[in-house]
Amino acid sequence: MREFNRDRYLEIAGNVGVFTSAEIDVIIEILNVHEKSDGKEYVVFNYKEADIILGFIIFGRTPLTEFSWDIYWLVVDLGRQGKGIGGKLIRMCQDFILGNGDSAILKVETSTKKEFAHARNLYVKQNFKEAGRIPNFYKENDDLIIYYIALTSGSTMSRTI
Ligand SMILES: CC(C)(COP(=O)(O)OP(=O)(O)OC[C@H]1O[C@@H](n2cnc3c(N)ncnc32)[C@H](O)[C@@H]1OP(=O)(O)O)[C@@H](O)C(=O)NCCC(=O)NCCS
Repeated sequence: MREFNRDRYLEIAGNVGVFTSAEIDVIIEILNVHEKSDGKEYVVFNYKEADIILGFIIFGRTPLTEFSWDIYWLVVDLGRQGKGIGGKLIRMCQDFILGNGDSAILKVETSTKKEFAHARNLYVKQNFKEAGRIPNFYKENDDLIIYYIALTSGSTMSRTI
């Protein structure tokens, strides 16, 4: 039987203090779709220690592409940030993707708001490249920033990130 941990994910997302209520609503919507599809829509992985979930990542194939994927949400418990869990979740995501094909493009979109500075640092540290920005995309002075990484089975890149 599949294990769904919706309430814990929402608790973690609520506590990190960077998401608006509209963003939390989108997380709820995605988790609902995931559960209703019995786990077929979106891939959700979590990181646990002593059986307690400390973070999660939601990702999936990008529609209308041959081998591209998107990270939709990546969240680590507020008290456990900065200890490598975000990096581990990204590696779990990349390993899963490379289990489904020899090469892939993995993309993530985020905001240039200061609240997302840790996320931007993490993506750069994990060898994602900046593909571009759209000024004022979310609102005035809040740009969209796009990161991507090309993954190849057995490549140094996929091993080191
Ligand atoms: C972004 C996020 C998932 C990173 O998870 P994490 O487990 O803290 O990440 P890591 O420990 O692997 O961090 C690696 C790098 O990210 C940065 N970083 C992440 N969190 C940090 C924190 N709390 N304090 C300082 N640096 C932090 C650092 O640059 C760090 O590099 P370092 O190891 O050289 O110090 C986490 O901070 C988070 O949940 N933030 C709120 C939600 C969010 O912004 N999600 C992304 C958009 S959907």
